[in-house]
Amino acid sequence: EKGGHDFFMLKEIAEQPQALADTLLGHFENGRVVLDEQRISDQDLRDVDKVFVVACGTAYHAGLIAKYAIEHWTRLPVEVELASEFRYRDPVLDRSTLVVAISQSGETADTLEAVRHAKEQKARVLAICNTNGAQIPRESDAVLYTHAGPEIGVASTKCFLAQIVATYLVGLALAQARGTKYSDEVAREYLALEQMTDAVAQVLETVEPVRALARDLSSTDTVLFLGRHVGYPVALEGALKLKELAYIHAEGFAAGELKHGPIALIEDGVPVIVVMPSPVGRAVLHSKMVSNIREIQARGATTIVIAEDGDIAAAALADHLIVIPRVPTLLQPLVSTVPLQAFAAAVAQARGYDVDKPRNLAKSVTVE
Ligand code: M6R
Repeated sequence: EKGGHDFFMLKEIAEQPQALADTLLGHFENGRVVLDEQRISDQDLRDVDKVFVVACGTAYHAGLIAKYAIEHWTRLPVEVELASEFRYRDPVLDRSTLVVAISQSGETADTLEAVRHAKEQKARVLAICNTNGAQIPRESDAVLYTHAGPEIGVASTKCFLAQIVATYLVGLALAQARGTKYSDEVAREYLALEQMTDAVAQVLETVEPVRALARDLSSTDTVLFLGRHVGYPVALEGALKLKELAYIHAEGFAAGELKHGPIALIEDGVPVIVVMPSPVGRAVLHSKMVSNIREIQARGATTIVIAEDGDIAAAALADHLIVIPRVPTLLQPLVSTVPLQAFAAAVAQARGYDVDKPRNLAKSVTVE
């Protein structure tokens, strides 16, 4: 049942190309994005003037990534918030607010209560969920299911990638409704999403050296992660995977924040995983990250750099280089996350832990 893998999580990492393909399937027909359930009118969708994304854990990281794409495509302001914070403050919501709730299980207590709060305030709620008929989609006005298949490992992997794709489809649906993108542009973006299936499959072919590196570093007691732009939430996700699976202190930072505090943590031999922006798609950020790498190396960090194929500067600087395929910038998280998942799993395995059932964690958090 684990398909030849030692753990469900490893099987689920390997299933990611399929999870993406299945999530896209049926959600784009005749040039239009199609939701699974839509109890909001097209007019209401057109009238949306603000978007909140609410979620917990890994799903929250998918939301952070979604912000870049949805704002870019729709020109709508997008705020991303932990469901447990959102529900206990007094967010400004009305009938032209769209609240996107992301939840693999569809049963997470905080996300469900955030949905209920949003509905009480007359906001429209769209759920992104992997579980058919779960409570969150049942209480929402619209639903887009991620068809990633059952995820058994407590650490979310394939659902994370599927959630990113689903939020992008929501972004394209909004852009279409609002007319901020022509249909041929939407079709082009959709095609780029489809091509990610192959790109993710390609990354999976190259994770063995990442696992070997993870085994070499498995006795470390801290790992830091740096990212910029869409690479920042990827850094947060890499750190979450490592702490929940390997019980190692791990923290993700926006690289621009280094000098505002985190650089004080760098000392001799501290492993720092850097998610490199594209030298082509994000040249300005790329050169800033080159400087960041130099700064931390000067203070003794061991750098593990995830960089696009052809990134000569990163290759020259990195103590350890992990190459990912060159893809459009907004889609980079779909490839850059994969080595981080493999890294965390391999560190945990080297330490002898059960990566499917990390200590103290439940697959679905139905109590607050
Ligand atoms: O079922 P949900 O997507 O609502 O779950 C949200 C989080 O509990 C979940 O992503 C959690 O953070 C995972 N352990 C991450 O690997």
